[in-house]
Amino acid sequence: MPQLKGLILSGGRGTRLRPITHTSAKQLVPVANQPVLFYGIRSMVEAGVTDIGIILNPETGGEIRDACGDGSQFGARLTFIEQTSPDGLAHAVLTAEPFLGDAPFVMYLGDNLLQGGLTGLVQQFQANQPDAMILLQPVDDPRQYGVAELRDGRVTRLVEKPAEPKSDLALVGVYLFTKRILEAAKAIEPSPRGELEITDAIQWIVDQGDRVEPHVVHGWWKDTGKLADMLEANRLILDVIERRVDGEVVDSQIDGRVVVEAGARLERAVVRGPVVIGAGAVITDSYIGPYSSIAAGAVVERSEVEHSILLERAQLIGLEGRIESSLLGRDVVVRRGERTPRAYRFMVGDNSEIEIL
Ligand code: TTP
Repeated sequence: MPQLKGLILSGGRGTRLRPITHTSAKQLVPVANQPVLFYGIRSMVEAGVTDIGIILNPETGGEIRDACGDGSQFGARLTFIEQTSPDGLAHAVLTAEPFLGDAPFVMYLGDNLLQGGLTGLVQQFQANQPDAMILLQPVDDPRQYGVAELRDGRVTRLVEKPAEPKSDLALVGVYLFTKRILEAAKAIEPSPRGELEITDAIQWIVDQGDRVEPHVVHGWWKDTGKLADMLEANRLILDVIERRVDGEVVDSQIDGRVVVEAGARLERAVVRGPVVIGAGAVITDSYIGPYSSIAAGAVVERSEVEHSILLERAQLIGLEGRIESSLLGRDVVVRRGERTPRAYRFMVGDNSEIEIL
């Protein structure tokens, strides 16, 4: 089989992660202080796939290019491919045709995280040489997913969000394809929601009598496209970090697996891991509890945070209650007001959500 290429989909609308996605790409939201997208790129490189195309949308493409550079930081060669409108995963594949040529490829949804990596999958694909390979995982509520039905070790049917699922095997956001998928994407029609669906394209391959091989994933897999899943992914990644304290720690207590990057400063703080605290963050008179990722330059003062992600330069100052299960965007400020009359005062962007005590 010729050398495999990689295709990472980092366009899309990101409606489920608004307001973060009004200004930024969801694939750049940090999980344990690393953009989600970087995990996918690294998994590919680990599996020996270094020629990688990245699908971008025109609004957030620039910042993804800036974050990734030419790929040398990952040991990869990156080609950026602009998809003018997010018309579906199969449309993204078609957009990448000039990059893909005839090569087989691994496709990875840029907001997904897959624990077990790609090495085993790539080997299975190269050894068995099916026309396509899909990854599946049993889930509790298959109605929210693309669902596959199997017979005799082959995929027989794929249904997008079935009302009455015939199996509990959901499609994981990683696929291995031959150039058959390009023919398929050209042959299918847009779905009722107006997108060229990857499930329809794979179904087309099945309908031609070609072999689509399933691979059931045993480690965890997360689609970080909405807040609860993003926090869950953060928890899973933080669960395997190693303790490393390079920042400045004054009169503070640090328990368990905590990373404090050089240039961060903790003063009269209690930090209970797993937690990561980025360079230049300042934590004073505060408690940072398990499963929190505090990005570079964030400030936490006289506050308590747990199970949350703070992006670069977010500030939490003088809160009475504890913040939990929260995602604060870049430069967001949440602080106790000193002015009278005492009142809640908000300046909040579109689609933001605030829950108060
Ligand atoms: P989704 O999360 O399914 O779609 P979305 O990004 O539009 O999000 P939402 O449903 O919240 O509006 O997309 C999965 C991944 O594929 C994600 O990283 C975005 C990417 N994508 C593209 O690159 N091009 C596309 O046309 C679509 C639909 C998604």
